[in-house]
Amino acid sequence: MIETMSKNFFMSLANNKSLNKAAQKWGLNFGAAKVVAGSTIDSAIKAVRDLNNKGIVATLDHLGEFVYTKEEALEATDYCIKTLEAIAEAGVKTGLSIKITQLGLDIDREFCINNIKNILDTAKQHGLFVRIDMEDFSHCQDTIDLTKMFHETYDNVGTVIQSYLHRSLQDVQGLKGIPLRIVKGAYKESPQVAYQEKKDIDDNYLKLVKKHLLNGSYTAIASHDHVLIEKVKQFIKENNIPKDRFEFQMLYGFRKPMWESLVNEGYKMRIYIPFGNDWFGYYMRRLAERPQNVSFAFKGFFSK
Ligand code: FDA
Repeated sequence: MIETMSKNFFMSLANNKSLNKAAQKWGLNFGAAKVVAGSTIDSAIKAVRDLNNKGIVATLDHLGEFVYTKEEALEATDYCIKTLEAIAEAGVKTGLSIKITQLGLDIDREFCINNIKNILDTAKQHGLFVRIDMEDFSHCQDTIDLTKMFHETYDNVGTVIQSYLHRSLQDVQGLKGIPLRIVKGAYKESPQVAYQEKKDIDDNYLKLVKKHLLNGSYTAIASHDHVLIEKVKQFIKENNIPKDRFEFQMLYGFRKPMWESLVNEGYKMRIYIPFGNDWFGYYMRRLAERPQNVSFAFKGFFSK
């Protein structure tokens, strides 16, 4: 009950446009600096380099919520391109994660497609991979359709599938051959479209990972859940899945000791590194999914 209230509270903050806009002026606050790698490309590249030195790779995400105009979407596109160029120049090992709403999908589909093409062209030119993040359910079909369309021309693109959605097993089958990151899902979805119980979400998570691996497709296992990770490791051993067919992924700032122990066991580990001024919505979603993370916020608040 308290957990549900806390989840609803933080999700409503995450969706509050005025607070998101105001927070851009506060700078990284309330402990957010532990989970967001600064506000500039330089700070993000530094975070990647620190991880690379430990044998860990990354994917960068330039944070951005509530994009309503073509100017804002073009600005976001340019920033992604600048980030890819900075990655190539620095020679660090990282890809880029993007969001279709940030690049203008809700404004004009063709315009958004063109923006993504420009990003994919730059990435391809530098041998870099781009992941299209999965957003809320209302954008799921578009994300999948666009990923399939781009994958016909580009080999450096993949997307994300959420295990809380009822439709996901079918989607994984339809995305055979396309690199997928499997996650549980970070948005508030209705029981009509999404499992609500942890056990159902976890059971589906394992089904999706197993299906994509057995389909012979590259799979990123993105979770901080040690129980699920152990089960996936077991499955991989039993089925002799080669190490170049999968990787583990976690979010910047969460469960660091586990990153290192997976690397020490010889697994490929990638950290998702968000950066930029628009940190509020991302941070509130992290607080919503794990009430214990709230201690970050209070420690950050009282240390001001
Ligand atoms: P979950 O939060 O369900 O925790 C399960 C258990 O793991 C806990 O009960 C606890 O025992 C343990 N645990 C978890 N976190 C811990 C911690 N910090 N310390 C100690 N124990 C901990 N979502 C989305 O909708 N679209 C997307 O594109 C992405 N992209 C993405 C990329 C990457 C790299 C990751 C890791 C996640 C995402 N997500 C996402 C978010 C994802 O959907 C999900 O909300 C979070 O990962 C939380 O679910 P977990 O599986 O990590 O564990």
